[in-house]
Order: sequence, then structure tokens, then C-alpha cells
Amino acid sequence: MSIYNELEKDLKEIVKKSGYDVENIFLEPSNRRDLGEFQLNDAMQLVKKYKTNPREIATKIVEQLEKDNRFTNINIAGPGFINFSLSEEYTIEILNRINENIYSNINKHEKKKVVIDYGGANVAKALHVGHLRSANIGEALKRLAKLLGYDVLGDAHLGDYGRPLGFVIKEIKEMYPNLPYFDETYTGNYEDIDLPITNEDLERIYPLASAKAKEDESYLEDGRNITVKFQNGERGYYDLWKRIVEISKEDIKATYDRLNVSFEIWNGESDEMAYFDKLLKICKDKNLVQESEGAKVIDVSKEDDNAPMPPLLMIKSNGSKSYDSTDLAAILERKENFNPDEIWYVVDGRQALHFEQVFRAARKAELVSENVTLEHIGFGTMNGKDGKPFKTRDGGVMSLKSLIELVKEETLKRINPETVSEEEKDEVAEIVAIAALKYADLVSFRGTDYVFEIDKFASLEGKTGPYLLYSTIRMKSLLTKSGDFRKENIKVLKTPTEKDIALTILNLPNILDKSLATKSLNEIADYLYNLTALYNKFYAENKVLTEEKLALKESWLVLTDIVYNINMLLLDLLGIKVPKKM
Ligand code: ARG
Repeated sequence: MSIYNELEKDLKEIVKKSGYDVENIFLEPSNRRDLGEFQLNDAMQLVKKYKTNPREIATKIVEQLEKDNRFTNINIAGPGFINFSLSEEYTIEILNRINENIYSNINKHEKKKVVIDYGGANVAKALHVGHLRSANIGEALKRLAKLLGYDVLGDAHLGDYGRPLGFVIKEIKEMYPNLPYFDETYTGNYEDIDLPITNEDLERIYPLASAKAKEDESYLEDGRNITVKFQNGERGYYDLWKRIVEISKEDIKATYDRLNVSFEIWNGESDEMAYFDKLLKICKDKNLVQESEGAKVIDVSKEDDNAPMPPLLMIKSNGSKSYDSTDLAAILERKENFNPDEIWYVVDGRQALHFEQVFRAARKAELVSENVTLEHIGFGTMNGKDGKPFKTRDGGVMSLKSLIELVKEETLKRINPETVSEEEKDEVAEIVAIAALKYADLVSFRGTDYVFEIDKFASLEGKTGPYLLYSTIRMKSLLTKSGDFRKENIKVLKTPTEKDIALTILNLPNILDKSLATKSLNEIADYLYNLTALYNKFYAENKVLTEEKLALKESWLVLTDIVYNINMLLLDLLGIKVPKKM
């Protein structure tokens, strides 16, 4: 249990001693610091139960509080709000406990097994801006849940199954009609074929093929047929498809790697579809599958729906299996292989209807038990200044690689040539660029869109990734310069700023718990900024290294160490790396 929650528990006992029985105490950091650092509102809530006036209740509680030397500045405001502050000694004690073990102020939650689906990159297609948020938010949520005690598995859920791949194969067939993959009489080993195609080729072929399919009816038809062929494992087509997946996967991995994003499971939609027949049987046995214009669908509408709910598409009229069914099959697969308590889908908010259909169908088919949570964690898009999803200058889809390069150009300008050598420059700029992108993404409220503003994101000032990195590096450098300062304890807390830092540190578990409850990261990103800004204020107010009073200097260094460690913990939680210098 976190120190904060321990404090709440102790306060509960104190309220009980005053003669009032409460179930839980919720301690609120006060926004009226002049009245006290914390506020206890329980007297107001006890009024109903004990039918006396709140001031009387508050007075009794205050009597007990005053006996406890951890609390000072105890007063009653308004009709019965109790305000109080923590004594200096007690605050120091708390800080020293956190200094000894940072986890002493983090709550461990009941262990739950969660599969997080947050990749969604598409094979043969460059990762684009749309995949950025999924990767950032999913990775950070995974790290948060892990920190708080969950057992989490990230699944890349590669888009390796859909029609676009049929078009890609069709285009390759046009380019190289003599490849053995297309020769029905070929008896050799497909793995030995020298395929003259790189990942860059694939990234060119994909949009070309999709455009052709839009214009040319027979091309479209061929592409569709090829899709059915590779989906059904037909010799040649299936083998070429597999090669394409391999080539592309390597590149996708490398890009995720740059983003400090990694997956425990590298399943693709195709792996999920190995469960399709079983899924279909379950659905048929439950009489859920209906024919509709040649397609096979599941009705997922409910009587009280107040918006149209289209049926879930299992098999299209041309025989190919749909995107809907890939997600449905994935639930069955995850149930069988991992038996999770929860499955989280960190996917663009515009797919909300799709997930509603999938979840309803999964419930109807009873693919997982009722108490398994299926949750779509949607998010808004990163937009350009025009308010539409961010594009390249000529209006095309911006690849993630180009986006990173764009930001990198900007961060390169701000690298300090006095501290970073020419050889190290690129590596540092890369780390800072990723931090700029990731922090801007995570500090934005998950549910809404935000605008890509490169100057703002890359700035060394304000609520930005680079500001946090710069400040954190400076803390580290102060600690290094202090030489062999013994890992002493904090002995004094001198200024109000130090007290503010201490209270912010104490509040960490509330931020983490709330973020997990709402599956959002903006509060953690804000917290990081607030703590860092407070620390920088303290840094400007005091000359730590030249301080002559040893007890004070040591206290300050320990405080710096705690803030540094929290920053490192939270930056890592957000998936942000810290360079040695910048
Ligand atoms: N590959 C899809 C796309 O790029 C996203 C997949 C999202 N995840 C899922 N389980 N459906 O649009």
C-alpha cells in the first residue's frame, strides 16, 4: 500500500476514534494551500448518518487530529471542512521512506491478466501517423499496468490478412509474371526463390496497387481472388504472401523499436484466423450466423439501440473473410492461449462501431465468460493545422518514418554543440525527437484530436519532451557533480518550494491509480511536468552545490535524487528514453 493510502487509513482510524464510523477516507490535496495542505470532507458526509451539524463532527475529529503530531495547522473552514498540513518532521520521514524505496509510495493492484492489442501496423505498408498514437498510448498503458501489478502482454496484431495484400500480390504478378509463385507446375522449394523485392518496393507497390484496383474492375477482381487464394493457403500465393510478411515485419519491428515500443506477442490477423473454423462452428451451433445477400453475418443489434447497428460481417459474398471476423477469431485465440481477465484494444476512436459489433458478437457467442472485460480504448487523431489528420505537403499519408525525420531535423537544431560531439549528434537528436513526439502525444487528452505543432513539440521550454529531458539530465549532472555525497537522509525542509515538491511526490500514487482507472496518460504527463517545473523553481532559488551547511546540502541532494528517480521512472513508463546529454 502506498504511503498516501496508509495515511488515509490512519485518518480513518482517527475519525473512528472521534466516534464516527466511516467506510473510507478520501484525502484531498487542497487547492487552498493558505488554509492547509489537505482537506478532509468527511464531516460533511457524516451529517446524514449522525444527524448532528457538521461543525460539531468536525470539532470532534479535530480534537483527535491535534493529538497526533504528524499534523499541524489544523482548522475548520466553512460549515465543516477540516483543513490540515503535514508537520515538517513527518514530511521528511515520508520523503526518506520514498528515498529508500520509490515503490513504497506506489499501490499494487490486484493482479489481472491483460492482453493489450495496440499495434495494428499493416504488412507491406509503411507505418503511418495513424499508428503513432496506438503505439505510444498502448505501450505506456502496458508499462503503467505492469508497474501497478498487472500481468500484461502486448500483441502487435499485424494487419497481414486483408484485401490490400491481395492487390500487392496482384501487382507483383504484373511486374514479375514469371516468378515460380505463379507457376502451377512449380515443384521446388518456395523458400529458395530469389524474390527481387525489398521493403521499400513494397511500400511503393502498396499505394500503386490500391490505386489501380480503384480504377480497373478486372484488376480489382483479380486482387479479390488472390486474397481468397492466400487466405485459403493455396500453394504459391500463400508462400509469396508469407515472404511479403517476413520482409515487411522486419521493417515494422525496426520502426517500433525507434519508438521504444515492443510486443510480447507478434501475432498477425492471419494467426488469429487459424481459429476461424472453430469460431464459425461455435457461432453456427448457437444459431447466430445468417445469410445476407450472399454474405454470412451475425445480427448484433439490440432492442434498445437508438442508432442503427449493422450486423457483424463474418464472410463476404466473394468468400473472403472480413476484418470483423479477424477480431472475433482473435478473442477466441486469446482466450485459449492466455485466458486473460481483460483485453484492451488501443485503436483509433473511429473504429468504435467495429469494436461494439465485435464485442456484442463475442458475448452472444460466449467466446469469453461474462466477467472478462473487453474494452476499446479509443483515441483522437493527430491533425494538421487544417484540423484534418496530419498529411504530407502534397496531401498524402505521412509515413511514421518521415514524421520522425521531420521532428529530428527540428531537434538537431537545438542540440548543444558544446556538450554533444558531432558523432553523437544524430543519436541524441533521435532520442530527443522521439521524446518530443511521444510526450506531445501523451500529454494530449486521449479522447480528443490534437494538432501537430513542431516548434512547440521540439521546444526546450514549456510542457514538452525536450524540456523534461533537459531538466532530468541537469538533475543527474548535479548529482554526479556532488561527488560522493553519501546517500544520507533528508534532515531539513527549508523553503515552501521544497514542501511543494514533497507534497507532489506524495501524491504520485493518486495520479497513477487514476490513470489506470481511466486508461489515459495525460495526467502522468502533466504530473511529470509539474514536478519538474517545481524542481526547477527550487533549483533557481538555491545554490545546491556551493551550500555550506552540510545538512542542508545533503537534504537538497537527496531531494534531487528522489525527483530524478521519479522522473526516470515516469519517463520510462511513457516509453521515453533519456540521453546522457543534449
Ligand atoms: N490494421 C488496422 C488498421 O491499420 C488496425 C487494427 C486495429 N486493431 C484491431 N484489433 N482491429 O487500420
